Amino acid sequence: MSATYHILTHKDLDKVGSLDQAFASDVLVGLSQTPKTLSSRYFYDERGSRLFQKIMDLPEYYLTACEFDILESQKTAFSTLMEGESFNLVELGAGDGRKTSILLEHFLKKSFAFQYIPIDISEASMQTLTDLLNKKFPELTSKGIIAEYFDGLKWLNHMNSRRNMVLFLGSNLGNFDKAHSRAFLHNLWNALNNGDFVVIGFDLKKDIDLMLKAYNDAGGVTAEFNLNLLRRINRELGGNFDLNKFRFHSSYDVFTGAMESYLVSKEKQTVFIKEISQSFSFEAWEPIHTEYSYKYLESDIQELAAETGFVIEKQLYDSKKYFVDSIWRVQKIDSF
Ligand code: TRP
Repeated sequence: MSATYHILTHKDLDKVGSLDQAFASDVLVGLSQTPKTLSSRYFYDERGSRLFQKIMDLPEYYLTACEFDILESQKTAFSTLMEGESFNLVELGAGDGRKTSILLEHFLKKSFAFQYIPIDISEASMQTLTDLLNKKFPELTSKGIIAEYFDGLKWLNHMNSRRNMVLFLGSNLGNFDKAHSRAFLHNLWNALNNGDFVVIGFDLKKDIDLMLKAYNDAGGVTAEFNLNLLRRINRELGGNFDLNKFRFHSSYDVFTGAMESYLVSKEKQTVFIKEISQSFSFEAWEPIHTEYSYKYLESDIQELAAETGFVIEKQLYDSKKYFVDSIWRVQKIDSF
């Protein structure tokens, strides 16, 4: 059987052009705020996606290696849950699919009847993923969706009645603050059926120096990755950011458990963005917040699951216990 790949764009979801407009409006809102902020969701243009792939290969960025370790050594923990039925393997924020390939290969080897449905906001990432999967797994049935998570989830509602296993790997959930992650998980629960599974990656709290190094790599790839956001504004929105006048900074807040990333203006300056006809002034050493990467305690994970209607099925750790892929089951009580 030949593989079929459909890239459903936002047009299919009746949201014509919304992604581009969203970028301009999010930049306007974010840079008009105090403190200034730019959303990390816009990191992943073509260059940004390539830079993030480089980050995942860095020795300092332990997260990816840990998750590879988990998936490689514990893939049967996934297959025993899905044995003997046809199902959808859905992935939110699929990225380049390198990690997921481990599961895809395993499921294909077992001749499971499943469909892979990656959902990603980045067309560049989806293209890379589609090319890679076509080459690597010609027998795989896959349907890619370029959409916001929530639009993707709405679409999931209209899916057939097969069981869903939804992957939300990496440090994806960790990029939401507590209120947003709760809201996200409630929405996820609502979009799914009783007995569906979600698999969520949690980076655990650990030695602070290890985390600082992971987000401040010696080669400066992470700095370049963050600065690329300004480059993208220059290119797509006609901005005139001088990248030499900003520097990347990342720190850890022990109390909230967040790695916090910033672009800091090294001098007093004004930046003009043509597309939104607006200039923004920066004081010397004024920060732009770009990303939170929350780290978790075991108790945080238990609390989150319980609050949002999930039952923890399995906790899969890497050998160093730096990271956990947590498998949750959707619990819906039938009142009739
Ligand atoms: N979402 C990833 C994470 O939080 C992406 C990332 C890696 C990142 N390094 C970063 C985001 C540095 C901002 C700054 O781990």
